[in-house]
Amino acid sequence: MKNIILIGFMGSGKTSAAISLSYRLRRTMVDTDKEIERLHHMTVSEIFERLGEDEFRSMETRCLERLLGRSGGEIISTGGGLPMREENRKLLKRLGTVIYLRVKPETVCTRLEADTSRPLLQGGDKEEKVKRLLETRGPFYESAADFIVDTDEKMTDSIVDEILERAGAAIR
Ligand code: S3P
Repeated sequence: MKNIILIGFMGSGKTSAAISLSYRLRRTMVDTDKEIERLHHMTVSEIFERLGEDEFRSMETRCLERLLGRSGGEIISTGGGLPMREENRKLLKRLGTVIYLRVKPETVCTRLEADTSRPLLQGGDKEEKVKRLLETRGPFYESAADFIVDTDEKMTDSIVDEILERAGAAIR
């Protein structure tokens, strides 16, 4: 069975949608950040601080490789920067149906206003950082995705309805 993989920027709602998909389809859910944290006994912030972003990105690649070795049929929520590596985009395609949850910078800023867990958004002008990162990343998310779902102003349930409708037979 194919995996369903959610990609998109921080605050795009990947985790909530993945939890809901997992309940509705009765499939297990994997979150690449959580997998990495569990394996290395460190939070993502600690990994960035102690080992650096490059090492974290290599951990993401290894995480995808491990997921490829499993039997499939899982709901996979990914870290927001994971599809930036070409190698990772190739692995995502091999893993299953890739869905880009698209979000506007204003929505991210509202949702993550008080967040301290994303090292890339700490310090300085958060709005500016989000805008700049989203501009750079948008084309990579698009090229990695089988289809795009816009998530601004939508509740998780309607996002999941749209995913299920559009993915159709591809995810069964
Ligand atoms: C990151 C997104 C985070 C996490 C790390 C880096 C990014 O995941 O992987 O802080 O580069 O966008 P979420 O998208 O789940 O917040």
